[in-house]
Amino acid sequence: MMEYSEFSSSILSELPKEGHITCTSPSNIALVKYWGKRPVQLPENASISFTLESCKTTTRLTYKKKEDTKNDFDFELFFEGKPKPEFKPKILAFFERIEEYLPFLKQYTFTIETSNTFPHSSGIASSASGMSALAYCLMLLEKEINPTITDSQLLKKASFLARLGSGSACRSIEGPITVWGEHNDILGSNDSFAVKFPYTVHPNFEAYQDTILLIDKGEKQVSSTVGHDLMHGHPFAAKRFEQASRNISTLKDTISSGDLDTFIEIVESEALTLHAMMMTSMPYFILMKPNTLSVIQKIWEYRKQTGSKVCFTLDAGANVHVLYPNSEKEQVLDFITKELVAYCQNGQYICDKIGFGAKIV
Ligand code: DP6
Repeated sequence: MMEYSEFSSSILSELPKEGHITCTSPSNIALVKYWGKRPVQLPENASISFTLESCKTTTRLTYKKKEDTKNDFDFELFFEGKPKPEFKPKILAFFERIEEYLPFLKQYTFTIETSNTFPHSSGIASSASGMSALAYCLMLLEKEINPTITDSQLLKKASFLARLGSGSACRSIEGPITVWGEHNDILGSNDSFAVKFPYTVHPNFEAYQDTILLIDKGEKQVSSTVGHDLMHGHPFAAKRFEQASRNISTLKDTISSGDLDTFIEIVESEALTLHAMMMTSMPYFILMKPNTLSVIQKIWEYRKQTGSKVCFTLDAGANVHVLYPNSEKEQVLDFITKELVAYCQNGQYICDKIGFGAKIV
């Protein structure tokens, strides 16, 4: 594929015989949502997200060069210390997709050991942190094979590879704010990998807080993959993609100006629009729970009473991400523990904030 030639791989040194690499990569929360894609994992509209700090995956990649190269991928997978055969098909599909960009993959036997800082059944998507962590480890291995790769090439290609694992994962390699998908107002933005928000970020967004309320930890009835698919032939799809594009333009200005009222308006509208798309798909579905709506009402009341700049967003599930400036940290946390935790399953919530992407351990 011509357009991706910059991501082809050259082997400059002898392949290292064995070793291991450990890295962490965080989850991210979209402000303008990615919902709708075309093959292969290319977004129908640009999206923008806050990279998170605490919700992350740690992945240790152990590699051993095979004596005789059989034409097969060879890997073992451990999740939180235990073998996880049920995760293997997803990783195999990922390896098949990225092999043309990492031609050394079949030369190795890999052991992939991974764990998350957040509970597995929390409804927090582990695909963004998991796929970005694995992609980043693989790029660190490629750098051992080809030391001429620069840091910026490494980040770009890690995002490109992560995207092929899970779309939103490409936004987790860097932080604090990233954009994925071609957009005329965002310099360098494109569909094949995410870029760091290339404009000034107003100090209002420094250490921006995200408290994740775990409303319902059950398995989702409808996966994101199925949800994305339902945007094909969706009656509102074209309008939705135009709206997302306008919201990126507005949010770009807002992030630089620090105008939190406009920020709130766009972010909450995006969250509700995402769920409106689900409710108007055929078949239609609802991922919010009664407690999701109760929390939203409470946030609106609190904002009205206090003038706080707290707001909410949702991902493809019932959990609520409560977003607020660091300057309001104490008051809003107090409000959350007094008024919102009652709506969380087993009173569980996670305090997170804006973060800086994948790291070597
Ligand atoms: C609602 O990235 O999980 O969180 O590309 O099929 O792996 P795949 O989907 P995924 O979709 C994320 C959807 C979302 C919005 C977002 O993160 O932008």
